[in-house]
Amino acid sequence: RKRVIHVSTGSKALDVILGGGICSMSLTEAYGEFRCGKTQMAHTMCVVAQLPREMGGAEGKAAYIDTEGTFRPDRIRAIAERFGVDPEQALENIIVARAYNSEHQYELIQKVEQSCAEEKGVYKLLVVDSIMALFRVDYSGRGELSERQQKLNIMLARLARLSEQFNVAVFLTNQVQADPGASMMFAAADKKPVGGHILAHASATRIFLRKGRGEERVAKLLDSPDMAEKEASYQITEGGISD
Ligand code: GTP
Ligand code: MG
Repeated sequence: RKRVIHVSTGSKALDVILGGGICSMSLTEAYGEFRCGKTQMAHTMCVVAQLPREMGGAEGKAAYIDTEGTFRPDRIRAIAERFGVDPEQALENIIVARAYNSEHQYELIQKVEQSCAEEKGVYKLLVVDSIMALFRVDYSGRGELSERQQKLNIMLARLARLSEQFNVAVFLTNQVQADPGASMMFAAADKKPVGGHILAHASATRIFLRKGRGEERVAKLLDSPDMAEKEASYQITEGGISD
């Protein structure tokens, strides 16, 4: 029987509320507004996943499906420096693919599945940054929502199966719904992730990220099967996500 592994987020406080980091064998979704640190968290975990277990790692490689063209090798290098690992080696251990539409995103997930099957036990983390962006473009018409949700459901089932079959931690980033007429008074807590109940149901762990005062960021754990709703603050630094 496989045992659940954890990958540290880079923030000890956030790891604590997650019960040790993000888990393998299920999907974790981090959603929030632009610049709250979703992509930086994804980058950080791609490096951390490679580290020894005592450093919060999983001693494995990472796969990164980039739907927005925001993967930055230089950020990986800087994060690697923070953890004292060779920057070029860290980069080599991350396979990155840019997805150009939702169909392509699905094909890339299948490719990751193949890589996991060919190199058993090597991949420990799969990032999809972001899960919904291309679906929102491809199915933007009013009448297309049910088709979108159907395709999304198939993709999420595939991701869930991959996470279980290969004991991989799957980290999805997601956007929040635009709130027309939102004012400064409109609380961040009112922001809702896109993807509807299909995504809500598929994500075993949901983390809502928001901007705090100044450089502070706050993560709130929601819908977690075994942890109460909890918050942790974190920062975005040159070396990635930290306390
Ligand atoms: P969207 O994809 O636009 O929705 O945003 P996101 O949630 O993915 O935000 P992202 O992870 O890209 O975070 C952007 C923030 O990270 C910005 O506020 C940057 O200032 C900060 N950031 C990025 N790189 C660095 C860095 O090297 N040092 C520091 N201190 N901050 C950084
Ligand atoms: Mg981003």
